[in-house]
Amino acid sequence: MIEYSEKSKTFVLRGKNYAYIMYVGASGFLQHVYYGKALRAEDTAYLLQTYGAPHEPQTRDGWSDGCLNELPSEYAFFGRGDYREPTVTAARQDGARMSRFCYVSHTVQKGAPALSGLPHARTADETLCIVLQDDFSPLQIKLFYAVSDNTDILARHAELINTGKEDLRIEKAFSFCVDLPDDAFDILRLHGNQTMERTPERMPLGHGITRLHSLRGASSHQMNPFAALLRRDCTETQGECYGFQLVYSGSWAITAEVHNADTVRMQGGINDTAFNALLASGQTLVLPQALLAYSCHGLGELSRAYARFIRTRIMPPRWANASRPIVVNNWEATYFDFSYDNLFPIIDEAAECGADTFVLDDGWFGKRDKDDSSLGDWTVHTGKLPQGLTPLIDRCKQNNIKFGLWFEPEMICEKSELYRAHPDWAIGKAGQPPYRSRSQLTLDLTRKEVVDHVFEAVGKILRENEISYVKWDMNRSVSEFYSHTLPAERQGEFAHRYILGVYDLAERLTSAFPHVFFEGCASGGGRFDAGMLYYFPQIWTSDNTDAYERARIQWGTSVCYPLAAMSCHVSACPNHQTGRTTPLHSRGAIASLGATGYELDLSKLTEQEKATVREQIRAYKEVETDVLQGDVYRLLDPFAGDRFCMMTVRADKTAAYVVGEGLRAVPNGYRKDAFVRLQGLNENKTYRIAECNVTASGAALMRFGVALPQLFDYQCFVWHIAEVRAKR
Ligand code: DGJ
Repeated sequence: MIEYSEKSKTFVLRGKNYAYIMYVGASGFLQHVYYGKALRAEDTAYLLQTYGAPHEPQTRDGWSDGCLNELPSEYAFFGRGDYREPTVTAARQDGARMSRFCYVSHTVQKGAPALSGLPHARTADETLCIVLQDDFSPLQIKLFYAVSDNTDILARHAELINTGKEDLRIEKAFSFCVDLPDDAFDILRLHGNQTMERTPERMPLGHGITRLHSLRGASSHQMNPFAALLRRDCTETQGECYGFQLVYSGSWAITAEVHNADTVRMQGGINDTAFNALLASGQTLVLPQALLAYSCHGLGELSRAYARFIRTRIMPPRWANASRPIVVNNWEATYFDFSYDNLFPIIDEAAECGADTFVLDDGWFGKRDKDDSSLGDWTVHTGKLPQGLTPLIDRCKQNNIKFGLWFEPEMICEKSELYRAHPDWAIGKAGQPPYRSRSQLTLDLTRKEVVDHVFEAVGKILRENEISYVKWDMNRSVSEFYSHTLPAERQGEFAHRYILGVYDLAERLTSAFPHVFFEGCASGGGRFDAGMLYYFPQIWTSDNTDAYERARIQWGTSVCYPLAAMSCHVSACPNHQTGRTTPLHSRGAIASLGATGYELDLSKLTEQEKATVREQIRAYKEVETDVLQGDVYRLLDPFAGDRFCMMTVRADKTAAYVVGEGLRAVPNGYRKDAFVRLQGLNENKTYRIAECNVTASGAALMRFGVALPQLFDYQCFVWHIAEVRAKR
């Protein structure tokens, strides 16, 4: 709900549990007043009295009195006495950069704003747009706040408009600024690396600037575009926390600045390093959306709010509540070394085991026998597959399963027909050796003709073959941020324009082939963000499929993404990434906490293992809806103890699904922590956990808990919890 009081010039935004309050002072300064647990309407006057008018300038000229450094801003500007980092910096023709943004007008409209060319929340009850104008330049800023009653996510973005005649150079343009009145927080980030994505790290917020970012042209394995501020007493189940997440997949930054007055300024958006954008007369720069979240019931509640929001408002709507294809992928089964002979048995077994899609991974095109050639040549490698894809597709059809195919649309190898024809389509600077990674270069998707070409080349394969699934990979970071065709004064826009090109390509391909299910991937989870989830309903979570490591990666990923976004496969042992051997049952259990699948040569399994896989797929189909659409509760932290445990609860609380894993066996008798307290159940309902012969109330299961089984290393347990209805 959005309320505006003309009398007090106050905006009050309300979601499910929070209120967000802003105020336009006598000087025109848009001041942030409050963000936190919902307050009664009459409290707004008290907040303003304490926090607003008495401390702010009464006239525009009063702004020279040095007060701005203490005032909480909605979109901070440079050079007028606020010495914290600005949200925006604009240089004019004379080189001056100081700004003074003042309120001009506002509108409230039904629904969500459409961000042209950028992914965004598809729905909202209403959207507030506040227009600010710089007193010293023609720069106008529109601040958008998309609000809905039934969520604690507030979707914010900004648009910059040059209302003058002369060019403006935008040197920094973050999407949001939130000034909170104290700094008694820990900051939580999700850092990592390839095969170690999204490791939660929590540490006290100190004075100065904490900066999380990616300069890789992608959101990155190394740091996810998300940060949370947690009160020091905030746990999974209690306490106050705030989340800041970007709906953006390119180079990004989120900063937390603790000021000398012990306040904290959170900001984020397009990475400002090596960024600048030319804003010509009349031009608008649309900035990425940020999802702000508030929880007064711990981090778990914040995660559930994000998960619900991303699943139902960001992902392609037709997949929000749909089941997912259960995939068998040949990558770890064959790598590049495949032919009809070794793929047919995998397809046959996939069908036999109950999977519904076979996906042919890297190596089917050009002359690709290893990872040093052919990216860009999206024609079948007839050396390997002499009759093309048809025999594979036919084999899938005979088995009544579907066929999927791997692409890496954004890339080009120097050893390729495409490179021979268009060397300048690769990102780099003529005359300088390119920076290679995995023997490949990145295509310059800032160029429309390159996007058009890739659309046609990938589209041709999709049109001419019965393909129902695409795995869209991306295996290197962007390094040289330079395009041969951009004018010098626009090279600073390269990183942003690159990701706009990716979004354009993704939008065109997903719209042209609506029957195709697209899975995102970037060397595993190197571009796992809400931006990509707008186009692709799930993302390959990590190349690390080890049941121990995966439990940790999926735990971290669940901090701000739904399980429905996580593609999770069972792979062979010893595991190819870690060399670890874990039970097949455990690999299946961990992979059941997401969109499940298989990444091994099923035809090489023993009869007993095949029976286990059949049973895993059958059992998964029973819980799939609860996993993909249920509410997630993180119970035992694999980073903090010897066990992992997570559960999902059906919305009406009639059923739940629990998966636990022993990470390091503890040879013990009765121990206090050998019980796990469940969460999210209805206290007054009675539940049955068949696997451990327990019947008890939700209250007992949540307060007293359930005894954990003795767990050897990497051993998993799975509990199906169902409400017991009283007989009439
Ligand atoms: C990286 C992906 O994460 C893998 O699953 C696989 O598709 C390889 N690329 C293929 O090159």
